[in-house]
Amino acid sequence: MQTSAKPNARRRAGTARLGAYILFVALVLGLCALALALSKPKKETGARPAPANTAHKAQNTPQSAPDAGPGLDQGTLILVNRDHCIDADGWELVTVYAEKSDDYLVKDTELAVRREVMPWLDRWLSDFAAATGVRDVNVVAGHRTAAYQQQLYQSALAREGQTYADTYLARPGHSEHHTGLAVDLDTYDVSSGASYGFDGNGDYAWLTENAWRYGFILRYPPEKADVTGIGYESWHFRYVGIPHAWYMQENDLCLEEYLDLLRAHGPEDPLLIDTPLGRWQVFFFPAETLTLPEGDYEISGDNDGGYVVTQAQ
Ligand code: DAL
Ligand code: ZN
Repeated sequence: MQTSAKPNARRRAGTARLGAYILFVALVLGLCALALALSKPKKETGARPAPANTAHKAQNTPQSAPDAGPGLDQGTLILVNRDHCIDADGWELVTVYAEKSDDYLVKDTELAVRREVMPWLDRWLSDFAAATGVRDVNVVAGHRTAAYQQQLYQSALAREGQTYADTYLARPGHSEHHTGLAVDLDTYDVSSGASYGFDGNGDYAWLTENAWRYGFILRYPPEKADVTGIGYESWHFRYVGIPHAWYMQENDLCLEEYLDLLRAHGPEDPLLIDTPLGRWQVFFFPAETLTLPEGDYEISGDNDGGYVVTQAQ
């Protein structure tokens, strides 16, 4: 006759095995979750804005070019000027009208900029209104197609002549407005319904002086006309991202000069940018030798054969 002790012992042994199995599965799942969490890029925390010059997100293992990087004509540091045209498209645009605050105006409901630019544009123009009480800034240009640039060029040519057209208008394919990274500002007079050229004087000087805090540069300063190929445009601002905008303003460099400087800074000798908003290191790779770094970084093509990598410190 069997005693009742044996089935109980088997049940206890079975229960113990089940418990050990559950513990094992929980341990494996826990380890997987931990590995997954550790492999994710860290999120920015705190008030410091992340540099937004970007086309590519952090990787955790080094990769080699050419296919590891974004296109050379992608990213927010691309050079577009008389000698560097752009025919890439496909970036995501948003209409300013749909996303803006009530602190400034926009020419029409269609005017669009690159998606990553809009939050910075909005913050810049809204902070200006908060700082000065002036709410008549009118965004009158953003993204333009090459066909529209052609119309603008032809009409300036017919109206003002060749010298004017070539001083203030890029040829189709050579305008920063094709990238969705540039805006033109005006001021709007509610009583007359007229929009006036933005001269950057008086209260409006705040916008030019503080543009870097939002990642924008005054792209065509008067003293750089021979480098940029364009006459002084007090109204045209280009988004490049905070550390770059700060460095250019602080060191009186236009985009052409800044990219020339970066080409001398490879990964072994990065440019250290210490701004009031944080520290970054920036370095350049020719396209043939691109090796993506470990850790978090942002990368942009320069539209001239290389890549710029930006890492927050
Ligand atoms: N006014 C600037 C140079 C453009 O046409 O893109
Ligand atoms: Zn412009």
